[in-house]
Amino acid sequence: MARIVYVNGRYLPYAEAGVHVEDRGFQFADSVYEVCEVKSGALIDTTRHLARLDRSLAELKIAKPMSDAALRHVLAQVVRRNRVRDGLVYLQVTRGKAARDFLFPGETDPTLVALARPIDPHKVAAKAKSGIAVKTVPDPRWGRCDLKTVMLLPAALAKETARDAGAQEAWFVDEKGFVTEGASSNAWIVRPDGFVLTRPLDHRILGGVTRATLLDLLKAQGVPVEQRPFTVPEAQAAREAFVTSASATVMPVVSIDGRKVADGRPGALTQRLREKFHDLAETTPV
Ligand code: PDD
Repeated sequence: MARIVYVNGRYLPYAEAGVHVEDRGFQFADSVYEVCEVKSGALIDTTRHLARLDRSLAELKIAKPMSDAALRHVLAQVVRRNRVRDGLVYLQVTRGKAARDFLFPGETDPTLVALARPIDPHKVAAKAKSGIAVKTVPDPRWGRCDLKTVMLLPAALAKETARDAGAQEAWFVDEKGFVTEGASSNAWIVRPDGFVLTRPLDHRILGGVTRATLLDLLKAQGVPVEQRPFTVPEAQAAREAFVTSASATVMPVVSIDGRKVADGRPGALTQRLREKFHDLAETTPV
């Protein structure tokens, strides 16, 4: 079946889909995006993803390309036309095309691209069963990591460093030795006393949609949470560690810089949170 991509009002075959060479997304990373999970033919947490998209757009003064209802329609169409039951759908908005100039162009139509791709749910389940290793790296990113922009080169480099070290995710560490977040995920630990720790929201991390839904779940489950930064030694001495993102939901971390977390197996609380996550997440059938 041919893959279909949405570009500026048209559903195009993958090979024909493209944006202009003077698109500001290409030239200046002047672009924001969202990634939503697709599970059993439903979109997960769409309201939160669209709210974050609004915020990213507003902070960068990029015009909203269409209403939330229209965006939901495009997302559903892309998922349906590609027959994705389990996978991810990407939505990308750039400021649009304009003759190259650092200054914002007067008026441009934003570029809107949406594409879906399937992910084998069994593969993800197998990964969650064994857990992942993380490698820590200094955080060289810009000062507004709270915006979901496509300035992803530091993240790509960090993931490469992690892969070279035999790890599946990188954790960025700030100048004071505190973990900021994963290259494409939020970072969490479970302290020996049972408290769940994650960094509070600031400009150094992305406010993950999965993070927000998981905080709701932890509250509903009566699990004590402390939102404060933690260090790498604290994480290595934790009872459990995990990451959250739309693509991984709740993924156990079993080693950090080659040191096992607890017995080196996914923690019980992490596994329970992973199992219960979709009971609480917003589910919109497409
Ligand atoms: N990444 N932090 C960063 C730097 C991220 O890129 C992501 C998501 C998250 C988690 O956010 P959410 O729970 O809303 O997915 C945190 C997506 C999945 C990606 O770029 O593929």
